[in-house]
Amino acid sequence: MLVTGATGTLGRDLVATLRERGHEVRGLSRSAPGHVHGDLLTGAGIAEAVDGVDVIIHAATDGRRDEAATDNLLKVVRDDQHLIYVSIVGVDRVPLPYYRSKYRIEQRVRERGGSILRATQFHNLVRGMARALTAAPIGLYPAFDIQPVDTRDVARRLAEIAEGGRVELEDFGGPAVRSARELFQLYLTSAGRRRPLLPVRLPGKIFGGYRSGGHLAPDRALGTITFEDFLAAR
Ligand SMILES: NC(=O)c1ccc[n+]([C@@H]2O[C@H](COP(=O)([O-])OP(=O)(O)OC[C@H]3O[C@@H](n4cnc5c(N)ncnc54)[C@H](OP(=O)(O)O)[C@@H]3O)[C@@H](O)[C@H]2O)c1
Repeated sequence: MLVTGATGTLGRDLVATLRERGHEVRGLSRSAPGHVHGDLLTGAGIAEAVDGVDVIIHAATDGRRDEAATDNLLKVVRDDQHLIYVSIVGVDRVPLPYYRSKYRIEQRVRERGGSILRATQFHNLVRGMARALTAAPIGLYPAFDIQPVDTRDVARRLAEIAEGGRVELEDFGGPAVRSARELFQLYLTSAGRRRPLLPVRLPGKIFGGYRSGGHLAPDRALGTITFEDFLAAR
């Protein structure tokens, strides 16, 4: 199996999970030691990386250049190879430019018979948001809910899809939908810090998309590792 984005937040857990399950795994990186080297944007090394694998799990991202990068990958993937693309819950509902580009990538992957797994926000991202927005003496939190998911849970589901065959499109959410305020408070407690927290509400369709829960999958709360578990362990 080939994992693109093998050095990333999800990719590291994914490579470890696949190896634990007995798979022979190649991780793609532009330069990290111990991985197959290739650059999805230039296409260098990609044909060689893909050659001979049965499954390709595409978990690399470079922001809005992902469409060009994925097109280079699609050029070298054969029809008998199973391509699994990692996307985000709500890419079709929250009008963020990054989400729109992921939605277009999804269409191209589906046209080629690939699988799509859409995950909710990773714990790591939520902790990063909490850290940044509570750095000042008065902390801020976005006035919406989040359903954070652990990359170890996402990695397990990706491994099952890799082993079991194609799924057209599937959402994978964290164990619970919670307010950002509650999650930020948990982060502060774990960091041993106290801050007054004020809500932030922004005008516009993007914030409105989050506020109306476009990024949530309450009916697909399949993750088992909570934000508290994550904060305690990582
Ligand atoms: N973060 C979230 O909350 C979240 C939620 C749901 C879904 N997702 C999706 O999950 C996937 C993984 O996200 P992540 O947060 O784990 O990513 P990440 O930590 O930002 O890692 C990005 C990875 O992409 C690789 N990469 C970037 N540009 C590349 C290029 N030109 N050629 C080859 N590799 C390249 C990097 O590898 P090197 O630097 O080693 O080359 C790195 O391993 C993404 O598709 C993301 O949209 C993220």
